[in-house]
Amino acid sequence: MDETLLMIPGPTRVAPRVLKAMSENIVNHRSAIFGKILSEATEMMSDVFRTNNKSYLITGSGTAAMEASMANILTPGDKILNIVCGKFGQRFSQIVQSFGGQPQVIDVEWGKAVNPDEIGYALEEDENIKAVTVVHNETSTGVTNPIKEIGKIMSDYNALYVVDTVSSLAGDDVDVDGYGIDICVTGSQKCMAAPPGMAAITLSDDAWKVVEQTNPKSYYLNMKKYRKSGNAEPPETPYTPSVSLMYAMHEALDIIMEEGLVKRVKRHQIAAQATRNAIKALNLELFPDESVSSTTVTAIKMPEGVTDGELRGTMRNKYRVELAGGQDHLKGNIFRIGHMGNITHREIITTVSALEMTLRELGFDISMGEGVAAVADTYLPENI
Ligand SMILES: Cc1ncc(COP(=O)(O)O)c(C=O)c1O
Repeated sequence: MDETLLMIPGPTRVAPRVLKAMSENIVNHRSAIFGKILSEATEMMSDVFRTNNKSYLITGSGTAAMEASMANILTPGDKILNIVCGKFGQRFSQIVQSFGGQPQVIDVEWGKAVNPDEIGYALEEDENIKAVTVVHNETSTGVTNPIKEIGKIMSDYNALYVVDTVSSLAGDDVDVDGYGIDICVTGSQKCMAAPPGMAAITLSDDAWKVVEQTNPKSYYLNMKKYRKSGNAEPPETPYTPSVSLMYAMHEALDIIMEEGLVKRVKRHQIAAQATRNAIKALNLELFPDESVSSTTVTAIKMPEGVTDGELRGTMRNKYRVELAGGQDHLKGNIFRIGHMGNITHREIITTVSALEMTLRELGFDISMGEGVAAVADTYLPENI
């Protein structure tokens, strides 16, 4: 079994009790026993989204839920405002295009967050914009977008507010009802620390009104069917779900509930702060400005004179710590440390220590231990 430490922005390390849950006997997915597991999991999912609305679990990765969000509200020709700050913002606009919608893009330089006022200006200029998509945590650049402030602006307009929290839910501050989010989507394999393969979505009453008037663009992701099956007695999914993954989600959600959302977010914030402090102590440069840096993944500029292959290759092959690279034009220019899910000081210290050794080996003048000391200092009780 490969024991490489996953410090990537998903999939993340899964707790043994979640893995164990997956080995339970397979039951009939149309039965009272499965209905109980499904309804408990979806109720906990709504608690994590912080919404009074129902949530739906979809067998598929996070992209399936992104696709479901658009497939159920979009009629060809509709204008959707996509905030594009990186790879995943871009994906939303590609989905809109694939369903015959007209993406209206606010392009933000990769590494920066959107200015909420720009969304207000765009909505002011064009009252036909049906929805706005925002990626809360742009995993590709390590930037957090201000979904709370955007929500305040959105409350003045009729457009639906659609937010991707695939790499932030259960790791950063998400309050679906509090921020007026109409459709929120997420995935299992990141801050929720479940195995890959499940996605979740929740829709507000306003969103459902649009869904009811829309001819869905997908057969599998028809949310009306999910709602009908979810309301059945016992609750079901429209098609055969991954029963084992549902057990895993249930267990991962139990763990989130036991820890408590507030504590969990705080733990992620400290991990992010510790990582950034270590990076600065090693004289490396953060890619985004610290004021918009992600709570779940830190993007770092590749130091001059070293290639991605050398840095991440040494980390992986010699020290068994897996980091993520840059995507698209950032390939080779940045590397990313994921600190989401079941992350503690142990993983951060190991990673930073391995990074110090790697950099020293690659010829950098590193004072060994300075990064590790910065992590320890961040975690010391008086500093938390
Ligand atoms: C912000 C964000 N949105 C969407 C996705 C897509 O999720 P998946 O790969 O599970 O389809 C990812 C995956 O990295 C992501 O980070």
